[in-house]
Amino acid sequence: MIKKAKIIGTGSYLPERVLTNQDLEKLVDTSDEWIFTRTGMKERRIARSDEYTSHLGAAAAKKALTRAHLTPEQIDLIIVATITPDFVFPSTACLIQQQLGAKNAAGMDIQAACTGFLYALSVAKAFVESGVYQNILVIAAEKLSSITNYRDRSTCILFGDGAGACVVSSEGKGLVIESVRLGADGEQAELLILPAGGSRQPASQETVAQDLHYIKMAGNEVFKHAVRRMEAACKECLEAAGSSEEKITYLIPHQANLRIIDAIAKRFEHLPEERIFKTVQQYGNTSASSVAIALDELSQKYAVQPEDQILLTAFGGGFTWGAALLKGDA
Ligand code: UT7
Repeated sequence: MIKKAKIIGTGSYLPERVLTNQDLEKLVDTSDEWIFTRTGMKERRIARSDEYTSHLGAAAAKKALTRAHLTPEQIDLIIVATITPDFVFPSTACLIQQQLGAKNAAGMDIQAACTGFLYALSVAKAFVESGVYQNILVIAAEKLSSITNYRDRSTCILFGDGAGACVVSSEGKGLVIESVRLGADGEQAELLILPAGGSRQPASQETVAQDLHYIKMAGNEVFKHAVRRMEAACKECLEAAGSSEEKITYLIPHQANLRIIDAIAKRFEHLPEERIFKTVQQYGNTSASSVAIALDELSQKYAVQPEDQILLTAFGGGFTWGAALLKGDA
């Protein structure tokens, strides 16, 4: 019999330092008014210089483990979604495994940019349902400030640091991962990219001089694709699960821009505004972590009922996109 994969505990961690729109006004030619009206963002968090992606991820994971009533030794696999790993290798999952003392766990990183958490959830779901593993720690962690160019006003206002985590297990009560839909389109790779530091353009004095180790984004183009792809992924995911928008208790979209979230909301006529969960105002875009952090914040504020359905959706570089439907455990 196929086991159910359930999210039995969530956690998140946001660094203490707050970077406000007013702070950004001192760095680049921008204004609080422009940032707020174009993105809905007021502030974002920035990690300390000695605080790395693995630290953010481990802090979120500890909370998820506590809420799942599991010890680190009970974890079989750690999956980390990130575009800002501590190192190219070893994986951030291995570093977190060591920090947690999860000595029985295997570890791997997944890279699907802002959709990373949904890709990682789908892998965890498959491993748990097939019975290969019982307890999997899924972590999304980003130190985007390490790849953000604070001289580029078109990108530096958007990004923040933070991590979200959850334990996916076949045992215990939680949110059942009912269905996941994922997609990708490598034709659009250049529109959202970190050009240097990989095998195509290894680090050199020239790549550094040309600012190629920072995020480059064609914002307008990405915006249009993000709306279309997230809408389609949500609709396909609901259909695959035999559900519909009327049944959704909460939609948690990727927190890239309030205008993107509003544009998606308009395409769901039966989903009132108050059922769309948002953190974009206070954390900005935290890439893979954004949906994971929001899911944890929602879980702390709202006690999930058996009939509840929570829809997650994300879109990011690659392009990649996806949606996942979570259901209360009856
Ligand atoms: O996480 C992965 C997915 N990421 C996303 O989904 C992000 C998608 N894109 C966006 O959120 C939006 O495109 C942005 C927020 C990045 C930009 O908003 P926009 O409404 O698309 O603005 P724009 O790029 O069309 O720029 C409009 C104007 C330009 O000036 P001109 O050419 O009209 O004179 C920009 O130079 O706004 C200017 N501008 C700024 N002005 C003040 C761009 N950035 C800023 C800024 N402050 N920070």
